[in-house]
Amino acid sequence: MKTYIYNSFCFSAFTGIFVLAAFSTVSGNYCEVNICHNGGTCVTGSGQSAFICVCPDGFTGETCNETETGPCNPNPCKNDGMCEVMVNSRRGDVFSEYVCKCQQGFDGVHCQNNVNDCAGQPCKNGGTCRDLDGDFNCKCPSPYVGKHCQLRCISLLGMEGGGIAESQISASSVYYGILGLQRWGPELARLNNKGLVNAWTSASHDRNPWIEINMQRKMRFTGIITQGASRMGTAEFIKAFKVASSLDGRTYTMYRQEGQPKDMVFVGNVDNDSTKTNLFDPPIVAQFIRIIPVVCRKACTLRMELVGCELNVYLNTTGCSEPLGIKSRLIGDRQLTASSSFRTWGIEAFTWHPHYARLDKQGKTNAWTAATNDRSEWLQVDLERPKRITGIITQGAKDFGNVQFVSAFKVAHSDDGQYWTIVKDEKTKTDKIFPGNSDNNVHKKNVFEPPFYARFVRILPWVWHERITLRMELLGCDE
Ligand SMILES: *[C@@H]1O[C@H](CO)[C@@H](O)[C@H](O)[C@H]1NC(C)=O
Ligand SMILES: *[C@@H]1O[C@H](CO)[C@@H](O)[C@H](O)[C@H]1NC(C)=O
Ligand SMILES: *[C@@H]1O[C@H](CO)[C@@H](O)[C@H](O)[C@H]1NC(C)=O
Repeated sequence: MKTYIYNSFCFSAFTGIFVLAAFSTVSGNYCEVNICHNGGTCVTGSGQSAFICVCPDGFTGETCNETETGPCNPNPCKNDGMCEVMVNSRRGDVFSEYVCKCQQGFDGVHCQNNVNDCAGQPCKNGGTCRDLDGDFNCKCPSPYVGKHCQLRCISLLGMEGGGIAESQISASSVYYGILGLQRWGPELARLNNKGLVNAWTSASHDRNPWIEINMQRKMRFTGIITQGASRMGTAEFIKAFKVASSLDGRTYTMYRQEGQPKDMVFVGNVDNDSTKTNLFDPPIVAQFIRIIPVVCRKACTLRMELVGCELNVYLNTTGCSEPLGIKSRLIGDRQLTASSSFRTWGIEAFTWHPHYARLDKQGKTNAWTAATNDRSEWLQVDLERPKRITGIITQGAKDFGNVQFVSAFKVAHSDDGQYWTIVKDEKTKTDKIFPGNSDNNVHKKNVFEPPFYARFVRILPWVWHERITLRMELLGCDE
């Protein structure tokens, strides 16, 4: 990286914008008339410097009146590659004036090649691979899960087998037959249940029937098997139904297929006895799952089984410590938010946005910095779906030569972005304070023991150096 030193300022010039401090004895507002050439932006300086010219790519000098020269100007490296001038040195047999240092996921002399991380076909079982910067992401067809879609999530969850207790099954209403003697209760809604009264039926007056299973912990559901029943020689069954789910029993989400504007309507049964299997693709992660009959034949009568798996298919965290995609950009800009963002010299172009908080990000402004030095500041990651989170890597950054980092922080997580839980110390039961960085560059890894499961994660800076500044990555897995 080429570094220019002017007076007491030290600036790196590789992203193009160039800043100079001008020393002058003239007084007044120097920026009233823009004295910067070639499209430079004038900013009134502070202290000794009367004004600062922020120069566009390719220009330098106090007033942007000089053209940058040298093998690295303009930057011959593509895809954010860093150009380094080689002084009287040689690489192999070839003399070169410069060398490009490529970002992860790119190669070639000029970093012109985006390495295809999907080339080795890492996704098994029909998974669709998406190439990221130095990583890949598999979109797995149900019932496959895992980084490589290598795991099958197809356990029968216990309606038929009895693993799900009666107390875990509830319904909007119950039908009582034969002068109120037969109770077609929700606890009977078990696949292949036998007997004269062997299924759940909603009350005849119930206009919005539903039946709900509380798994008592978060689970992954990949499918549902439904079956009707017969009452007094008549077949009764659910011909079509919708599915809703909830992580907390407060807010429910109707199941939709990805990108579809309408609730998914599943095709159900056609007679009193045969079973119908529907897959949830993508799977549902929830504690509560609710079946909502839409079209019923004679009555809304159901026997059923849920298909899925426990979330902790990995018995230890070693199998679940993939980077969750902050660095590789699987996590998009909108998924990274913060309480505030700092601007160097108040300049818009030098905003330290939350979406810059990506591990190893390069550039002049290459991290998130909070506007104030206050413990109320936070950085938030929305993973869009709940994931198992087993660790975090943090890193500081340099703001025009100033080393800045967070040296201690707390971590909070949430299912809905409203109710937050702060990670506690296992022994003391108080908020855990994680050790952070001690310079602008070294990766500091912390492991969450035990791991937690959440959609939203917040970093709460506790102690910092100069300014609250973070680049980071979360570790975990889908399971
Ligand atoms: C740019 O401006 C500075 C100060 O005004 C002057 O000393 C220098 O000669 C100028 N350079 C060019 C290439 O015009
Ligand atoms: C219910 O299903 C069984 C098995 O398919 C069939 O023999 C029986 O006739 C059906 N009963 C009614 C009432 O449809
Ligand atoms: C943890 O799980 C991984 C993957 O299943 C396995 O390879 C490893 O041996 C396990 N380690 C321990 C300490 O159990």
